This record gives sequence, C-alpha cells and structure tokens, in this order.
Amino acid sequence: MNKKSITKLQSFKNEKPITMITAYDALFASLFDTNVDMILVGDSLNMSFLGKDDTLSATLDQMIYHTQAVCNGAPNTFVICDMPFGSYLTNDQALESSVRVYKETKADAVKIEGGKEKAPMIQHLTTNGIAVIGHIGLMPQMVRSEGGYSVKGKDEVSKAKILEDAKAVESAGACILVIEGVKSDIAQLVAQTLKIPVVGIGAGKEVDGQVLVWSDMLGFFEAFKPKFVKHYLNGATQVKEAVQQYVDEVESKAFPDSDHCY
Ligand code: KIV
Repeated sequence: MNKKSITKLQSFKNEKPITMITAYDALFASLFDTNVDMILVGDSLNMSFLGKDDTLSATLDQMIYHTQAVCNGAPNTFVICDMPFGSYLTNDQALESSVRVYKETKADAVKIEGGKEKAPMIQHLTTNGIAVIGHIGLMPQMVRSEGGYSVKGKDEVSKAKILEDAKAVESAGACILVIEGVKSDIAQLVAQTLKIPVVGIGAGKEVDGQVLVWSDMLGFFEAFKPKFVKHYLNGATQVKEAVQQYVDEVESKAFPDSDHCY
C-alpha cells in the first residue's frame, strides 16, 4: 500500500509540488494510480460526463457511486470526494453527508466549497473525524447566484477577502486548500501565508501544487477550453480517428482479419 497520508502530503509543502487530477471511474483512476499524489472525484463530472451546464444538479448518491469506482481503481492514491451542491447546507447535514461518504466509500477526505462562512462547518467536520479539503476563490457551485464564472482577486477588496477566507479555512482545521480561478499574486500570498498546502487550478504557479480535470488535461472535453487548461494529449481527436478507422475496417471487412479470429 503506497497511499500517501495527510501528514505525508502536508510535508510536501516545502519539498515538492503536489499533483492532483480528477477521476470519475475505476478505469481511468487505475491509470492515474501510480502517478499522482491525490485524485479528486470532482462534481465537475456533472458537466464533463453527464453533459450538464454546471455542477449544481450532482447528487450525493452520484458522488458516492463515482467515489466507490475511483477507490476501486486507485487503491494506492489519496482520494477526495467532492461534496455536491445542497449536501452541506447546515453543519449537521454536512456531517451526515460526510459520514455517508466515509461509510459507503474508501475516500480519504471530502472537499467543500466556501470561505470564512464555512469555517464553523469545517470545524464541526474535523472535530468529528472527517478530513476536509477547503475550496476558495472561484467556486463553481456559485455559478448561478453569481451569474457566471469570474476570476477573483482582481482588486484589493477581492484579494483581502481571499486571504481572509484562506486563513479562516485553515484555522477551522482543513488539511489542504484548493484555490481556483484567482490572480497569481494573491494565490502566491495565500500559499506563503498558510501552513497547509495550497493546490491551485487557474491560480498560477506559485502555489504548492496543481489540480486539473482529467478530461480537460487530456483533451477529451471539447466544449470549451479555459485559459489555464493545458492539453497533454489530443484525446478527442485520437479517439475519433481510431473509431473512424474501426468503422472503415468493419465496413470494408478488413476487420477482423485472421489474427483476430478463432
Ligand atoms: O469538481 C472539480 O473537478 C473541482 C476542481 C475543479 C477543483 O472542484
């Protein structure tokens, strides 16, 4: 068992950048198992795999189902279950939902979106034995109430709020912080200020690690490409070309050839 503990992951803060990637199923989780430090079962699955416009309709049952699959595929990796919108409206509901995640999956931690206002909730979870990853900055679950996605930390007021949120989440007991969609200078200040690792997505390089949605990173998601996403593979193009080759070979009877027949 090579799974890294929270203490080990936290010790990376001043040693090496932490690597995190999303996964939603056992097959892809198994491909990432030996490479990355952490796997996030993100509620982004609602968009990239269910084809919805945002993450808000993801349910706790769905997140548990996908987290079970990822834990099956990646037994050697620290797995985080993203708590979906509406599953942590009160401290008691957050604890009840998190206990379900711990009892029904092998997830190592849960992730919740929110800053200072969520500090009492994070403390309630951590004092009851749940490891919590915080998530501040651009919070995708706020997309409807904020009327879209927008980069944070563009002015002094916004920067001050990000720093205040980060400190509150750390003081409440979060073990790691995800910071999304913020200007690089404030992300750097947050990483320098906090003792816990700060993992960025669209937050520049002066943080303690990076997380990307796997289907973005591997070029499978074609609907749009945010500025912070880098494609490490042209997944969609390669799959389409392979499927077209299969179709051509079946239609021309080139497949199956004698090597592929009993
Ligand atoms: O749901 C998700 O994939 C996330 C990452 C973008 C951090 O929350």
